[in-house]
Amino acid sequence: MDEPTFGKRETVADGVEILPSYLPVPGFGVLPVNAFLLRAAQPMLVDTGLAMLREGFLSALSSALDPQTLRWIWVTHADADHVGNLAAVLEEAPEARVVTNYVGMAKMTMLGLPVVERVYLLNPGQSLNVGDRTIQAVRPPTYDAPETTALFDPVSGALFSADCFGALLSSPYEDSRQIPGNELGEGLTTWATVDAPWLRVVDARLHRQAVTSFLERKPKIILSSHLPPAPGMNDRLGEILNRAIDAPTFVGPDQAAMEQRLAQ
Ligand SMILES: [Fe+2]
Ligand SMILES: [Fe+2]
Repeated sequence: MDEPTFGKRETVADGVEILPSYLPVPGFGVLPVNAFLLRAAQPMLVDTGLAMLREGFLSALSSALDPQTLRWIWVTHADADHVGNLAAVLEEAPEARVVTNYVGMAKMTMLGLPVVERVYLLNPGQSLNVGDRTIQAVRPPTYDAPETTALFDPVSGALFSADCFGALLSSPYEDSRQIPGNELGEGLTTWATVDAPWLRVVDARLHRQAVTSFLERKPKIILSSHLPPAPGMNDRLGEILNRAIDAPTFVGPDQAAMEQRLAQ
């Protein structure tokens, strides 16, 4: 895969659809970049995808539902791969409010995103009623931005884990159960060291506790922004993440290595 590619919208859990895309990372494989649509009584979009794939993203969203009926846009954090199409979705979905916290609001405002008038501030530990269910806001054990807020939907049993449990993969997969064991272990560990370079200095016992408490709701499916849907894989993913603190710190290619790679 040489180009960023938008995937196919699919149902991945009861009332939950994935809006998947794949980002080639030269030398490292492919990074899934997922947004999700939760068909609650008050429909919610979780993240807004990559700006470079705007057309595909917006048409997948509007083929799923009338954007005028969208009520919530949960922004897990303000990174480019999560807010890429936020301004465009806000324009198409005038009734939708942006769920984030104070730091997230500040960062999106600095990016020039028109969220101040539309924001709904929610902190980890708090919850949000979306008509037919109450969504729980949770802090994941690994993240690359302080505002990161994951979410658990008790009705579908889906844990939307933000960057946590992401993995660099050899190619796109529709389901994480299809990923060979070694590839999943290495890909998830490498991503954890990229996304959370501070893992090396974390206390092992506290890290394990954070992983355990993140999974204590016993999700039926883990929906990471950067992993194909992972049903029934809580223990496996938790074990890999527990061990990731022992992995070497990630160092990207420098200018010389990049030039060598481009010359090949
Ligand atoms: Fe991120
Ligand atoms: Fe991300």
